[in-house]
Amino acid sequence: MLGSKVNNVSTFTSFSKPLVIPPILEPKILSDGVKSYDLNVQEGKVEFLKGFKTNTYGINGAFLGPTLRVSSNDTIIMTVQNSLREETVIHWHGLKIPGISDGGPNRAIVPNSSWTTQFTLNQRASLCWYHPHSHKTTGRQVYMGIAGLIMIEDQESLSLNLPVEYGLDDIPLVLQDRRFDSKAQFLYAETMHDSMMGVTGDVHLINGVVDPYLEVNPTLIRLRLLNAANARIYSLVFSDNKSFYQIAGDSSLLPKPVKLKRLILSPGERAEVLVDFSSLGGQNIFLGDSLSNRALLNIKVRTSKPKLLRIPKNLTVIDEYVEINNPKRREFTLDMNMMFMGINGKRMNLNRIDEKVIAGDTEIWKVKNSGMHAHPFHIHGCSFKILSRNGKNPYLNEAGLKDTVLVYSNETVEVAVKFEHEASKDYPYMYHCHILEHEDAGMMGQFTVTKV
Ligand code: C2O
Ligand code: CU
Ligand code: CU
Repeated sequence: MLGSKVNNVSTFTSFSKPLVIPPILEPKILSDGVKSYDLNVQEGKVEFLKGFKTNTYGINGAFLGPTLRVSSNDTIIMTVQNSLREETVIHWHGLKIPGISDGGPNRAIVPNSSWTTQFTLNQRASLCWYHPHSHKTTGRQVYMGIAGLIMIEDQESLSLNLPVEYGLDDIPLVLQDRRFDSKAQFLYAETMHDSMMGVTGDVHLINGVVDPYLEVNPTLIRLRLLNAANARIYSLVFSDNKSFYQIAGDSSLLPKPVKLKRLILSPGERAEVLVDFSSLGGQNIFLGDSLSNRALLNIKVRTSKPKLLRIPKNLTVIDEYVEINNPKRREFTLDMNMMFMGINGKRMNLNRIDEKVIAGDTEIWKVKNSGMHAHPFHIHGCSFKILSRNGKNPYLNEAGLKDTVLVYSNETVEVAVKFEHEASKDYPYMYHCHILEHEDAGMMGQFTVTKV
């Protein structure tokens, strides 16, 4: 395939660059077994387009950040150094930790200073991630490149004989798209149109590489997928229309593998899938997006001897939310029109607490979207179960726990959600649309979780 042109800048020949696997960041292990991670948010330059350097942000590198691999009951210290020339803050998306341990718009790390936070995990194996959550600049800072993965394993996930060789048969894929100006810089314009539609781009990146290729052995491959795009919804398919098995969603394994030919992943959502390449030695398969009709990743299957691996029949039991007694119900309407973007008729206000939840309670949250645009609704500090979509059962691949749910146009989604940790009014949790331009424009609210 020939290279193409983006704004008169030549690109590299498509699918000529190898996929980069984000490095694993090894923690310092303190005497009490606590894992201590140092993250440095910094500026960088990357040659995405041939012959041009694009200004970027990254963590411990020029673009994106390292992968943190932790256990489900680890105590973790994160030290975030801000080496940017602007304020930032990092949010631990998917970690069930108290509000005070998390980063949100109510907190700012000023340039040349650092923030240290400590927390103990107690949650299921899952793929989580970290990204900025700075007041009104989250979208631009993620666009510049601040994001990374947190892989949580537990006894169960490690006992299932799933592929776990990081970068070999266990492949993280961070999906993003970018738009460039004529000087090959990221074009993040924040126009009215961008804010309404969200910023999407015609250049696709996986793990920060434009149109990469990946070589795999003819065996069962696990893909850990994160949609870290600001606004693009992906519909992932393979060029040979092959089926694959989704084994995990945002916050847990699924009860059983779900066979799919296409996987919808909206901003903020994660999924793990198993793909059987054992009979495809020597072939070139593309992973693509059927919504933009674009190939994203060229998978070259090696001709080595095929290795057959069994896909487990059962993965886990979701015993959360089986019995919900007399729950409190709350309603959230996602409001978007030419004049206004908000939730329940209100724009995000740092000085207003929108909801107050009692710690330990399980509630039912009803999220209503009567507009034209689909919105991924995300809640901090919890994992929820989707109960219904417009009164009907959720999709089969939504049977696990989640923290982000795509609410389509004219849809009402009900979730059961338990709040296990506290969040005070000084460090409240957020709920928001994960289209980052919608979030920055005010489609976000704050809530506390307290004992009384
Ligand atoms: Cu991934 Cu409040 O966000
Ligand atoms: Cu989050
Ligand atoms: Cu939205």
